[in-house]
Amino acid sequence: MNIDYRLKPEAERRGESFKPDKPLPFGVLRTDHMFIMDCEDGEWVNPRIVPYAPIEIPPGAIVLHYGQAIFEGAKAFQHEDGEIYTFRIDENAKRLNYSAEVLCIPNIPEDMQIEAIHALIDVDRLWFPQQEGASLYIRPFIFATEDSLGVHPSSSYKFMVIMSPSGPYYPKGFTQPIKLLITKRFHRAVPGGTGSAKAAGNYAASLRAGEFAKKFGASQVLYLDVTNTYIEEAGAMNHYHILKDGTVVIPEFTDTILKSITSRSIMELAPKMGIKTRQERVRLDDFVEGVKSGEIIEAGGFGTAAVVSPVGEYVFEDGSSLVVGNNEIGEYSKRIYEYYTGVQTGKIEAPEGWLRKVERRV
Ligand SMILES: Cc1ncc(COP(=O)(O)O)c(C=O)c1O
Repeated sequence: MNIDYRLKPEAERRGESFKPDKPLPFGVLRTDHMFIMDCEDGEWVNPRIVPYAPIEIPPGAIVLHYGQAIFEGAKAFQHEDGEIYTFRIDENAKRLNYSAEVLCIPNIPEDMQIEAIHALIDVDRLWFPQQEGASLYIRPFIFATEDSLGVHPSSSYKFMVIMSPSGPYYPKGFTQPIKLLITKRFHRAVPGGTGSAKAAGNYAASLRAGEFAKKFGASQVLYLDVTNTYIEEAGAMNHYHILKDGTVVIPEFTDTILKSITSRSIMELAPKMGIKTRQERVRLDDFVEGVKSGEIIEAGGFGTAAVVSPVGEYVFEDGSSLVVGNNEIGEYSKRIYEYYTGVQTGKIEAPEGWLRKVERRV
């Protein structure tokens, strides 16, 4: 790919490494540049890296009316050798193409996506925060730009990548487990729908449930399937629970669940962490029973942003509540977090191909 570099003048770019004096928030800051590529009639053309700035699209752009948009969320880490490595970025590229298929968007070869991301990180590498637990959060996305009010797949798109220098999701570590609302009122996804894709519209549709959860002091909703029988997701994370023998149980990936890269990675790393994992359809009733009987000792969510979000309490709309693991952070959840972030940051050996070094090009 022949990337056109239209960089900011040197004097306006970050010229030295980024040493924040306060813990960085997650996802708020931006780096100096962004990557853009256009799609015209099925062809991806004009790859470029330009200063981070607002973009122009027609008011009739299909994305603004019919939500034809998808995205990814990935991370890069600086290792002790001072180099920056992306973590399982090929899996994000694959999943973006899966989402593209679901939303009738032309796909982008994985190596092209990875090259775009690595080239952007290279340009803005000085933005990597010199802070414990920090990462560069990477947000690739595609949206429909054709100016049309007819409902049909757009004939033009933009693929963009922006980045956020971020601190850990929980800056003070796991001080307190989160609370989830169990409700039958909202559903995230339906069979045959877009729930297994990272479609922007899924997240717009989830906002109301998130706001509702807050009324009960919960940070998110525990989503159930449309029959209200099975546990699906913990807000925008996969749900997990841990049995007293240390088995981590993750709901089976149906077409209403996003195939979390974090969950899949944890399943692959399980033998090294001394835990067992399995996937199955998890009945809500069995889960509640398991927590009450003490068979289930920990629960929470897995996802790129926080890695692990332990849940200490589930609340119901009638005010009743279900406490798991004495509302404390469990040992297994902590162990998974430590091991996983150790692999990401190069302190623990990663399986072949999980980490890719960002080469210096500019
Ligand atoms: C709905 C949903 N489930 C699960 C996840 C976790 O996926 P991953 O581990 O790939 O970040 C996310 C976040 O990306 C999500 O939005």
